[in-house]
Amino acid sequence: MTDGCGRTIRYLRLSVTDLCNYRCRYCMPEAGVFKRPHREILSVEECVEIGQAAVNCGVKKIRLTGGEPLVRGGILDICRGLSSIDGLEELCLTTNGSLLPELAAPLRDAGVDRLNVSVDSLRPERFSHITRRGCLDDALAGITAAERAGFAKLKCNVVLMGGINDDEIVDFVALTERKPWEIRFIELMPMGECAQWEKSRFIPAETVLKKVPALRPLKSSGTAARYGVPGWAGTVGLIRPMSHRFCGLCDRIRVTADGKLKPCLHSDAELPLRGLHGSELEGAIRRGIAQKPERHHLTEGGSDTLRNMNEIGG
Ligand code: 5AD
Ligand code: SF4
Repeated sequence: MTDGCGRTIRYLRLSVTDLCNYRCRYCMPEAGVFKRPHREILSVEECVEIGQAAVNCGVKKIRLTGGEPLVRGGILDICRGLSSIDGLEELCLTTNGSLLPELAAPLRDAGVDRLNVSVDSLRPERFSHITRRGCLDDALAGITAAERAGFAKLKCNVVLMGGINDDEIVDFVALTERKPWEIRFIELMPMGECAQWEKSRFIPAETVLKKVPALRPLKSSGTAARYGVPGWAGTVGLIRPMSHRFCGLCDRIRVTADGKLKPCLHSDAELPLRGLHGSELEGAIRRGIAQKPERHHLTEGGSDTLRNMNEIGG
C-alpha cells in the first residue's frame, strides 16, 4: 500500500532480537544491553504472523535484523515460516557473519535468499577494536561459508568512520575486482552510542568516489547509489542518509524485537502490534504505513528515536 506521501511500502525490516555477540563502538555500550525477558520478545509464531500480515498489506521483501539475528533461538524456524508465505518475493538477513560458518547452509535451506554481512575493517586488530569482541577471521570464515552455501551475490556493509577505517576504502573496493559482491559504504548516523562522537568521525560517502576515481555510476537500487569499476565482478553501493536525504525513496517499515511497528527509523512514533491478530494486526500495520513521516531530522539536531540501533536493526 502507499503511505500518506505517496510512497509504496514494500519492505519490512523485522528485528528478531536486540542482543548481539559483538559490541561495536558506534552501536552498543561495552557492558551490553539489558536482557529483556523472553516473554517481551516476539515469539517465532508472532514473527511469522506479523510477516504474513505485512505481506497482506503489500510487503514483498522482508529483512531479518537484530542486534545479531543469528544469536536468536528459533531463527531457522522464523526463516522457514516467513519464506513459505505466498506473495513474499525476497527474504534477506543482515548479520555480523560470526555464526555463518555453522548457519549459512541451514539458512539457505530455510529459504533465505540473500545475506548482508557487516565488516567494518579488513585489519584484524582494528576489527577487534571496533567490535570489541569480534574476530576478523570468524567474519571472513562466515563469508566463505555463505558463498559455499550458495549466497553468491553477498552484500558487505561497511560503516564509514573518519580516522577509524576511511584509510581502507581502496582495500574494500579492491575486493570487487574478483568477487561478485556489493560493498556498501554507509554514512555513520549520530544515534545512541555515537550521537556525541566528534564531527570528524562523520564523513560523507562521497569520499569513496574521491579515493577511487575509476568508479563509474550504475543504476541505483532503492536507497543505495551504485557504482562499479568497468570490467570488475562486483559493485559498490553508497548509503548516504546524512549527505543525501533519501526519505522520498524510502519504501520500508520496521518492527522492533518487542513487537512495535516503527514507520520511520528516526522517529519515536511506535505502534504496538503484540496481542493483535488477523484483521486487527493488518489494520495496525496499515495505520502505521499511513502515518509514516515525510522525512527525518538527522542533520538538524539528530535522530528522534528513543532507541539504540541494536533495538531497531539498522
Ligand atoms: N550509523 C550507520 N550504520 C549503523 N549500523 C549500526 N549503527 C549504525 C549507525 N549509527 C549498521 C551496522 C549494520 C547495519 C545493520 O546497521 O553496521 O551494518
Ligand atoms: Fe552487534 Fe551489529 Fe551492533 Fe555491531 S553493529 S554491536 S554487530 S548489532
